[in-house]
Amino acid sequence: MAPRTIKLNDGRQIPWIGFGTGTALFRKDATQLVVQAIDNGINHLDGAQVYRNEDTLGLAIKESGKPRSELFVTTKLNPGETVNIKGTLEESLRKLQLDHVDLFLVHSPHPANKEGKLQDVWRQMEEVQAAGLATSIGVSNFRVEDLEQILQTAKVVPAVNQIELHPYVWDTARSIVEFGNEHGILTASYGGLTPIVRAPGGPVDPVIASIRERIERTRGEPVSAGQVLTKWLLQKGAIVITTTSKVERIKEFLDAENLPDLEEKEILAIDNAGLKRHVRAFMHVVFGETK
Ligand SMILES: NC(=O)c1ccc[n+]([C@@H]2O[C@H](COP(=O)([O-])OP(=O)(O)OC[C@H]3O[C@@H](n4cnc5c(N)ncnc54)[C@H](OP(=O)(O)O)[C@@H]3O)[C@@H](O)[C@H]2O)c1
Repeated sequence: MAPRTIKLNDGRQIPWIGFGTGTALFRKDATQLVVQAIDNGINHLDGAQVYRNEDTLGLAIKESGKPRSELFVTTKLNPGETVNIKGTLEESLRKLQLDHVDLFLVHSPHPANKEGKLQDVWRQMEEVQAAGLATSIGVSNFRVEDLEQILQTAKVVPAVNQIELHPYVWDTARSIVEFGNEHGILTASYGGLTPIVRAPGGPVDPVIASIRERIERTRGEPVSAGQVLTKWLLQKGAIVITTTSKVERIKEFLDAENLPDLEEKEILAIDNAGLKRHVRAFMHVVFGETK
């Protein structure tokens, strides 16, 4: 069965889980792992111009043999590009061997926000959507002030804001997620496994462990820490962009939607543990943070 979908503010549907070709696959050939992901039930693929592997993402889509209509493909605008957005998307489509993407995101508000060009960038995004090159349009790494800035002149409200989201950035991400919920902008999370992958041993660990055990008892089947974090993301109203080289992990991710919900008090316990530590793994420049 295909992963559950969520309705975007433009009426389109987006699968709740996307397979990323950045991070582990950044500037690498993504063909084999994308084919593996598609073969194992993933139908939402997350690329970007800056990952410099859109051609291999396109190759994988071809090799998978999956009909185009059954796939949801995202790419993102190179952060330095503010002039010829249509031209860069056409170049991406050539590499992807597609005539449109399902979602095109402004990868970062920086440096366009510093240069006073954010509203013009968004106007060009609206043009590529109107031209049929991208079915839905959205943003990534936008803070509340960046969203407010484009909403002043936007004809189209961004469908998605893709941000780093996990308990160790809940201090800064919370207001962005809530702003999105209020304005119909779906939050797509990335870096969601940071507490177990990049910052193990922190205050979130014991909380996740006890929730994992509780759900395992309720469910009568093994439950992983990653699945608990995935449920936390879903219950915050976000979808999940992740990546893996392992078939077992793809299955584990897909199975996360079958887990019983976390209880309110469990979500709060994760929030509170996350607030004890701040770990941002990506895009420090946007948030004025140092690594
Ligand atoms: N918009 C942006 O600015 C932006 C920034 C960053 C990322 N992204 C997107 O989000 C995608 C996913 O990002 P992410 O890598 O940060 O996702 P993530 O879900 O936080 O981490 C996935 C990584 O964690 C590893 N992993 C999973 N479970 C593990 C475990 N139990 N123990 C140890 N390692 C484990 C996986 O490796 P295995 O191969 O071992 O499973 C994989 O490399 C990217 O590819 C990209 O498409 C977007």
